[in-house]
Amino acid sequence: MENQDPAARPDIQTQTAWKLAAARAAVAAVPSGAVLGLGSGSTAELMLAELAGRVRAGLRVTGVPTSERTRAMAASLGIALATLDDVPRLDMSIDGADEVALPGLELIKGRGGALLREKLIATASNYRVIITDATKVVPTLALRHPIPVEVEPFGWQHTARRLVDLGARPERRRSAADPAAPPFLTDGGHYVLDCAFGPVAEPAELAARIKAVVGVVDHGLFIDLADRVYVAGPAGIQVYDCPR
Ligand code: A5P
Repeated sequence: MENQDPAARPDIQTQTAWKLAAARAAVAAVPSGAVLGLGSGSTAELMLAELAGRVRAGLRVTGVPTSERTRAMAASLGIALATLDDVPRLDMSIDGADEVALPGLELIKGRGGALLREKLIATASNYRVIITDATKVVPTLALRHPIPVEVEPFGWQHTARRLVDLGARPERRRSAADPAAPPFLTDGGHYVLDCAFGPVAEPAELAARIKAVVGVVDHGLFIDLADRVYVAGPAGIQVYDCPR
């Protein structure tokens, strides 16, 4: 069921202010010397600008970007960068999300198409921080958004049929809204199938079933990959820590 709370449907300026508040709160907690995963998406980009401000004020960090877009933006802001292969582990990562389910902090990510690199970096991080706004909190995952599934282009229609067998309605993402636009390609050169499943009661189980499909590279269900979530909204910032 769609959230009917008007506070959950703010105008764009209000939502941007919430995203910025969450980004600020997370960046304020970054310790000097950290190797830090840098997320992708509009909230993460606000975080990069905040982080760059702290770097100019003397904070030492090494950023590991989750996308080429984030890499370019972080570099232009003067944030020192490394690749995932340059570092054995990351101290923490800060990223956005499309949906957050409480209290378990399960997520849907990947509307921006960076889900594979985001998941690789979350998996390599000791402490995963998610920055988001009140519009992203849902009672059940996949209520509002399809689950992005990154697939190998070779034989992708066969892979899509296996996802239909799991209950999905997959749609190959395009690079623009125009129905004639070419397919969207991830930084790794894969397609994204946006898979409407309807509300998902058992996300860990579905995650395992999607991952088991040959041709699937990865998917946007992030289970046990968030330690802390900052949710900014009309009542200020709420902080949720992983109960496990
Ligand atoms: C990128 O692939 C995504 O996982 C983003 O982190 C997610 O879509 C959140 O994006 P916004 O901060 O733009 O809502």
